[in-house]
Amino acid sequence: MTAEQPIGIFDSGIGGLTVANAIRKVLPNEKIIYFGDTGHMPYGDKSPDAIRYYSLKIGKFLEEKGCKVIVIACNTASSLGYEDLVQFMGDRIPIFNVIDPVVKHVANKEHYQRVGVIGTKATISSDVYARKINELNPQLKVKSLATPLLAPMIEEGFYENNISHTVIESYLSSPKLKNIDALILACTHYPLIKREIESFFDNQVDILNTASIVADDVKFQLEKLQLINNQEVEYKDEFYVSFKTPSFECSTKIFFGDQIELIQKNIWVK
Ligand code: DGL
Repeated sequence: MTAEQPIGIFDSGIGGLTVANAIRKVLPNEKIIYFGDTGHMPYGDKSPDAIRYYSLKIGKFLEEKGCKVIVIACNTASSLGYEDLVQFMGDRIPIFNVIDPVVKHVANKEHYQRVGVIGTKATISSDVYARKINELNPQLKVKSLATPLLAPMIEEGFYENNISHTVIESYLSSPKLKNIDALILACTHYPLIKREIESFFDNQVDILNTASIVADDVKFQLEKLQLINNQEVEYKDEFYVSFKTPSFECSTKIFFGDQIELIQKNIWVK
């Protein structure tokens, strides 16, 4: 493995771009190869077996593209596919998920007493956040709420508008989220609606910027592995999707500038 090899990042769709963008900010010399499984999006209402299968196939694709590490930039795939991916290829390529860095961050905040988690149905039913946080900090109360409409809503470009305000308000008014000190955005799509969530809570609740927590951790892990690319090279990032959608194309432009070439790739059949 060499530092010049790319970082592989994947998600069910555009959500992982929030993580890719945060990684690019802290690691500007890295080449990114991104795969958005837009053909299977949303992952949140798929069976655990289906999510594991997609994750393994995408992991294999990124390994074949020569990535030095893989970042699962999707909470749903991190909840259900991470262990399998580590078992399948973890001895050949380091795999990072988006859950562990956020869990560590939250569990270390001593002034938090009650923390909310919002995510897809699959992530919330896996109960992974409450389990992992309480392993590190058993006193912390973790209240989880599935918010399944949010990811497809964002994927379709509905954020910072009346429709998103109404949907967000309806979910966040849940009694489960009363008196929380912090809210974990346990879906990589949600940084796009962070501002709306902050204003729902009148800026009284810490809305955790999970993408930047994950990016800082990826940098820390690469440093440990001595895999940071220190050469200043103009790389061309690569963006693959399993199904080319206009909203994905539009979002890659917003995050990564104009020169984005989207490549539709069928990785399911050989
Ligand atoms: N962005 C994904 C996550 O972090 C999920 C969206 C989906 O349901 O596909 O969980």
